[in-house]
Amino acid sequence: MNYISDNTQSIKHSKIRKMFNKALEYDNPISFTIGEPDFTASDNVVEATIRALKEGKSKYSENAGIKPLREAISRYLERECGLLYNSVDEITVTTGAMGGIYQALKVTLNPGDEVIVSEPCWTNYAQQIKMCGGVPVSVPVDFENSFSLDPEKIERSITKSTKAIMINSPCNPTGTVLSEEVLIKVANIAKKYDLLVFSDEVYKHIIFDEAKHISIASLPDMKERTLVFDSFSKTFAMTGFRVGYVAGPSEIISNITKLQENIAACVAMPCQYGAVEALEGGKEHLNMMVEQYEKRRNYISERLSKMPYIKYEKSKGTFYAFISIKDTGMTSEEFAMKLLEKEQVVVVPGDAFGDFGEGYIRISFATSMENIKRGMDRIESFLVNLKVWKAEA
Ligand SMILES: Cc1ncc(COP(=O)(O)O)c(C=O)c1O
Repeated sequence: MNYISDNTQSIKHSKIRKMFNKALEYDNPISFTIGEPDFTASDNVVEATIRALKEGKSKYSENAGIKPLREAISRYLERECGLLYNSVDEITVTTGAMGGIYQALKVTLNPGDEVIVSEPCWTNYAQQIKMCGGVPVSVPVDFENSFSLDPEKIERSITKSTKAIMINSPCNPTGTVLSEEVLIKVANIAKKYDLLVFSDEVYKHIIFDEAKHISIASLPDMKERTLVFDSFSKTFAMTGFRVGYVAGPSEIISNITKLQENIAACVAMPCQYGAVEALEGGKEHLNMMVEQYEKRRNYISERLSKMPYIKYEKSKGTFYAFISIKDTGMTSEEFAMKLLEKEQVVVVPGDAFGDFGEGYIRISFATSMENIKRGMDRIESFLVNLKVWKAEA
């Protein structure tokens, strides 16, 4: 008897994990795989969480999350994005954005419903869509177009089964921030074909230069068909707290909460109090982190620009650099494995983010400047030697 369901068997482990495991075989690796801030939560957030515990706020909370947190989220969305969501029935607190996206897919997809995802994209979308009986439909984004969404390609991929478009801006892994012009076009497509838009905005504050985050939900007539996913993980360096939320139309939100009631009841109550403090306790910690990420991105960009075989366009947001290695003639996996073997540097092969990520690697700069400097030296040495090997061949 095979005890594992067909659906679960169709779900794949991420290649990021494969690289991570492989790196354990080496004694001095420098890892650029990390998808979480190298900072910890700020002291005021930690203190608020401990205070909640000491005050006995360690029970089950309402399924949708504690009222003070939903109210704080409502104020924050208005302040930061001009979005008006009421805390009573348009916001629900979830186990990170990950839990929110999964529950939203579960609530909205019927078997065979298609969800359009731009690719390369965060690995979990396709798996979660499949876990919910849906079908991910990939639309490629290109280096030449700064990895921005191509609305025409999206429109061409719509079928009778299309239910939703998933967007992620700023984007993991490409670091792209979608412009207002592109968002308007995507919004018009969603309205024309009566589609939902899932807008994953977890990196919205990690943004550089002149780039501006715009939530597609803020565009005319989009609030009623958009689900906004956000979390405390990246913005406030609170990955382990597992607090996120979904904002959207009350009918969908109440159904997400109904699932929460049956899955985990609620998010850990003390962590929810920590999250209130994150939203209300000032932006000093966040600003410090973004400043560091920007310095690191600039350094990486400067170093990579002098190396042979690779192309990199400065990330507009997130803490990832998505780098073309096509000119080496190697596949992403070959490149990543050889780099590990020769120089003990761990990067994520681009095809971990879908087939259209082939020909790229992802570097996370959520690691110290010291690591970045040493890692860049090693990558440079790898590429220079590659040039010598190629010349000799
Ligand atoms: C694009 C994107 N969305 C969502 C998440 C999930 O974050 P969390 O569940 O910690 O909020 C991640 C984490 O890496 C991500 O990169």
